[in-house]
Amino acid sequence: MSTPVIAIHGGAGTITRVSLTAEEEARYHLALAEIVAAGQAVLNAGGSALEAVTEAVRLLEDCPLFNAGHGAVYTSEGKHELDACVMNGADLASGAVACVTQLRNPILAARAVMEKSEHVLLVGPAAEAFAARHGVVTVSPDYFHTEVRHQQWLRVRGQARAMLDHDASSFSFAQQAAEPIDPDHKFGTVGAVALDQFGNLAAATSTGGITNKQAGRVGDSPIIGAGCYANNATVAVSATGTGEAFMRTAACYDIGARMAYAGQSLQEASDAVVFETLPKVGGRGGVIAIDAHGNLALPFNTEGMYRAYGRGELAPVTAIYAESA
Ligand code: GLY
Repeated sequence: MSTPVIAIHGGAGTITRVSLTAEEEARYHLALAEIVAAGQAVLNAGGSALEAVTEAVRLLEDCPLFNAGHGAVYTSEGKHELDACVMNGADLASGAVACVTQLRNPILAARAVMEKSEHVLLVGPAAEAFAARHGVVTVSPDYFHTEVRHQQWLRVRGQARAMLDHDASSFSFAQQAAEPIDPDHKFGTVGAVALDQFGNLAAATSTGGITNKQAGRVGDSPIIGAGCYANNATVAVSATGTGEAFMRTAACYDIGARMAYAGQSLQEASDAVVFETLPKVGGRGGVIAIDAHGNLALPFNTEGMYRAYGRGELAPVTAIYAESA
């Protein structure tokens, strides 16, 4: 029997100690701790890694602090287009949805694709219709609105390029309303990885993408091997960052491949991808990764990454900044 472990992330970016007020910082720590504790409860009750990561990401989607579900960023058309993915390391089963606009919890739709269809990825209205047929709750697009994200979009709409969004705070919330968004320093996604007591790994990732993204743009989050990957033989990984770079480098799969083919440890493989491979193509962000022994690696090449983990019955550990930030 393995000691169950779960880790989560809520996005990476220019998150420094001066960028968050003490109150904002406390809000993030509390949300991260509560969500990781909910994942631990699933695992400690004998639940599977798949169930734990699904539940953790569902809660992250419901939390307005993070760029997924309620709190997602706006597209260039002033809408929300959401992507999500889940993967089971025991049998490589996976499911994903992209460009969905009316599903309260895209991660539950991804799970339905995995378990109720013979496919891996469904997109747009057809994905929504499929998910609704399988009991996934639909909502009005207004449900995803938050004032912070709307203000971010109002400041950048009309500009030709998309804005990497949601590290949630290179500025404080108050400053966010007044300062221009830095196009290179804000991005977000949520994710979870877990090891259950039976030795199985799983990963899940969900995102609103990037502020002012072109309609129809799909990032790394719902792409197996790019923003999400799980294989009992090696690793479970969820990524956050500049999606196109994670897609071009098959970043999450590459961590597993380095472990399988080159004999690298979890930490070596994760560090190589985050600090060497991704920066070569302008990739910024991080990953949370776990192996079948319960080792964790949470590297990021930005100033901060919202992250947390919990082992067995131990209290959750939460963190935001890099050691040097
Ligand atoms: N990493 C999330 C995205 O680029 O959509």
